[in-house]
Amino acid sequence: MSYSRIIGTGGYLPEKILTNADLEAMVDTSDQWILERTGIHSRHLAAEDQDTCDLAENAARLALAAAEIEASDLDLIIVATTTPDRIFPSTACLLQARLGVHGATAFDIQAVCSGFIYALSIADKFIKTGAARRALVIGAEIFSRMVNWTDRNTCILFGDGAGAVVLEASDEPGILSTHLHADGAYKDMLTVPATVADGRLNGDGFVKMQGNEVFKFAVKVLNSVVKEILADNQLDESAIDWLVPHQANIRIINATAKKLKLPMEKVVVTVPTHGNTSAASVPLALDVAVRDGRIQRGQILLLEAVGGGFTWGAVLVKY
Ligand code: ACO
Repeated sequence: MSYSRIIGTGGYLPEKILTNADLEAMVDTSDQWILERTGIHSRHLAAEDQDTCDLAENAARLALAAAEIEASDLDLIIVATTTPDRIFPSTACLLQARLGVHGATAFDIQAVCSGFIYALSIADKFIKTGAARRALVIGAEIFSRMVNWTDRNTCILFGDGAGAVVLEASDEPGILSTHLHADGAYKDMLTVPATVADGRLNGDGFVKMQGNEVFKFAVKVLNSVVKEILADNQLDESAIDWLVPHQANIRIINATAKKLKLPMEKVVVTVPTHGNTSAASVPLALDVAVRDGRIQRGQILLLEAVGGGFTWGAVLVKY
């Protein structure tokens, strides 16, 4: 059985930037409140004529270029998204058509902010079992279109973007371990309680969030999954070169780093300028730190995320 290795990364953020100062003019909030409670000072928003597939395609092309392979070399495409362009076909199929790939397996994964961790884990299993040799794994979201821009509790948090990795089968690790969890008992803590029926939206199409409860739950399950992944790999915290966490809130990131006894210099932090890009946040952060040279070949990376469902998980990578 072979391993899967990350051979290229890519990231894309839309041009338009929404600052906390812009938000001050939209809802009753302040730059200071947002910064203190979340660490966010700006986020990117997709243009009206951009869709999730556009964002995904930009990230994908950069990841393919970094991996030095052609789209036609892919035999698996997985897109993690909560904001697909259509109910069907999947965004992965839409992207596949854009990339001119024919016949490769392609599907979407829906695990909200944990979506990329889920997708990476699934792609790893495809490769380990020999079902695929080269996989494109993407997190892409336009969360801004599900946010109620008059609700200060939620609209300050989210941004749009896409991140991608290319995985390839290898005799050397690679992805060392993946751990996925979910508990639907928490379905109402963070949700968009709507569906499409009879040709129209049935329910409320905006993000609903019990912020305080989400915060406590996120800290608890992330602490537990990072402990679990280290124990399963018989490693202690000192083995980790980089923590690449889901970028929801700097205080959640700080809590996980503290649990791992990691100095913040070993944590990739993009939340100040990206906001929470849901499934895109981990691959975007990974790409930033690969491209600026912080993450080096051979280093041990711990990727983790938590999101609606609730879902949570972690992936340990030898880069
Ligand atoms: N500006 C100013 N005041 C605000 C704002 C705002 N944007 N939003 C809420 N407030 C007010 C509240 O109304 C409340 O006022 P009150 O005391 O008069 O009722 C007060 O600030 C405190 O509100 P809390 O909700 O207790 O504030 P908290 O410190 O919990 O911070 C926050 C709120 C930032 C949402 C935090 O709970 C959080 O980050 N939770 C996690 C949410 C999250 O990350 N969601 C993303 C998806 S899930 C995931 O990715 C993990």
